[in-house]
Order: sequence, then structure tokens, then C-alpha cells
Amino acid sequence: MPIPGTTTEITPGAPASPATVLQVSPLLPGLERALAGRYRTVRLHELPDRDAFLRDHGDEVVAAVTSARFGVGDDLMDALPRLGAIVHFGVGYETTDVVRARARGIDVSNTPDVLTDCVADLAVGGLIDSMRRLSAADRFVRAGGWTAAPFPLATRVSGKRVGILGLGRIGRAVARRLEGFGTELAYCSRTPVPGVPYRHLPTAEALAAACDALVVTVAGGAGTEGLVSAAVLEALGPEGHLVNVARGSVVDEPALVAALEAGRIAGAALDVFADEPHVPRALLESDRVVLLPHIASATHETREAMGDLALRNVDRFMAEGVLLTPVPG
Ligand code: DGY
Repeated sequence: MPIPGTTTEITPGAPASPATVLQVSPLLPGLERALAGRYRTVRLHELPDRDAFLRDHGDEVVAAVTSARFGVGDDLMDALPRLGAIVHFGVGYETTDVVRARARGIDVSNTPDVLTDCVADLAVGGLIDSMRRLSAADRFVRAGGWTAAPFPLATRVSGKRVGILGLGRIGRAVARRLEGFGTELAYCSRTPVPGVPYRHLPTAEALAAACDALVVTVAGGAGTEGLVSAAVLEALGPEGHLVNVARGSVVDEPALVAALEAGRIAGAALDVFADEPHVPRALLESDRVVLLPHIASATHETREAMGDLALRNVDRFMAEGVLLTPVPG
């Protein structure tokens, strides 16, 4: 009996066969089809008995394809003795311990660049929505509020001071877009980025204090948890807006809830949360926050480009033993 989730017949207990590609999480359907068409592929998340598969067939897996949400955890890595490559569909890879992987001779790739524009577009959209209160205005019209009273005045975006927390590819793309709004731009990153015309501030708190809005684009992972702390939100101030398209863990979520409830910041637009897909009730009930279901890269064009790049990484590894876009470091 073939195991459900496998593209070729795998009989429990049969001798190891080479070159299985393990699909760790649900992926783009086109990417799943392409992988299944080219390689002996196993969809781990669909297996009825994942442990039995790993015990009997873990040594057949040479490459794993996963998403930023799932990564490849330590236990899974340990169950795959011949694993040589972890291919991430997405730019984030903080759910895989890259240092540990490399120590085991496993290379790791992600899909950089192809989603930069889309994520930056959404960050700017979130900023405009939060400051001009577009989603709140939409709710107002739908609820019949317009017939009773005008919508309350919002905050102008043009000419404002915007801080970018993390000036990587996405942060720079956000900044380039905001130049068109005549904004005054500043950023905070570990070290000043050479050749950019924006003001560098050494801490998130100093950046927040110098800005009307803070856009979080820093890569998630170790050392970034709670970077946007209660003190940073306090520094942003009662007129300040927060936009997060990075990782939920970068923002101290309880501190954000408290700041919104107390009016210590004016509003927020959030595409990411600490415990996705769960959103704290206080945020769901707040009229001051724009809530998005982690869709920064979710357009047909971008997801297809991400799928294509992930596939090309698998192809390169299977043909030549190296990855096309290995993660830095
Ligand atoms: C990623 O690719 O890591 C992003 O979170 C997608 O939106």
C-alpha cells in the first residue's frame, strides 16, 4: 500500500531509495505539482503517521521544501540523516536553525528579491490605511454612519517623518516609495547602511522618538523579539502610527494592545502577529488597528515568482548539489 502523500509508491519497511524531496508544509499548488512531476516527493504534513515515515524512510530524504511558518525544526532535521538542502518558500527562515543546519552540512535557501516590491507596496498601503483610517472609514460607510455625521478627520501622510526599522531590501523599497510622498526618512539598523540618504538612528527608541510613523521591516529571528517594546511605543507617542510587515515577534504585542487602549499611540497596521493565525481579542475589537492575515507577498505574480525560485533551488541542488540563493551568513 502506498503511503498517502507520496507521489510514488513507498512501502513501509522497504529498503532506502535515493533522492526523496520532502515537502514539509503546504506550498503553492503550482510548486507542489512541479515538485511531484520532477522528483519522488513526500508531503509530510499529509502523512497519517509521520513518525513511521521518518523512522522507515527518513534516510531517503535529500532535500526538504518548507515555508517560513514551518521551517525545519531540530527534531525533523535529526530524523533526516542524508538531508543536504532546506529550501524555504519565502524570504523569512527564522524557523530553521541555520547554524545547526550548516554544522550538519545542510545548506539553506530562501526566496529573496522576488517579494520585495509586493511587501513594500503593502507596508505603504498599511501606513496610508492607518493614518488616513481607510478601513475604519469603510466600516463607517457600511454601518450607515455617513448618513448621520461626517467621518472624523484623519492624519495626513505627505510630508510626515517616517522611521524604518531594519533597512534591508524591503526597508529600502519602502523608503523609495515614501520619497514620493515627500516624507522625511530615518532608519535604525545594527550599523549605518552606506550610500543611503536617510538619517541613521542607533536605537529603535531613538528612531520612534524622531518619527510620526514607524515601519517595521527588520528580518525576524534571534535578537529581534520584542524590539518594538513598550518604551519604543511610548517614544512613538499619541500621534504615532506603527506598521509591521516583518514578524509578529518583533513587536511586544501586549505592550501594543496596552498602548492602543490607553491612546499612547494613534494607530497601527499589522500584517503579522505573535501567534498566527490567532489575533488577540483586544486587537480584533480595536477600531484603531488595521488587521491583515499575513498577506504582504500574497499576489499571484509574487507567489508564482517565489514558487519558481524555490523550484529552481531544488533543481540546482538535485542536479549539482548546491543551492541557487543560499541564505546569507
Ligand atoms: C516571508 O516570505 O517570509 C513573508 O513573511 C511572506 O509574506
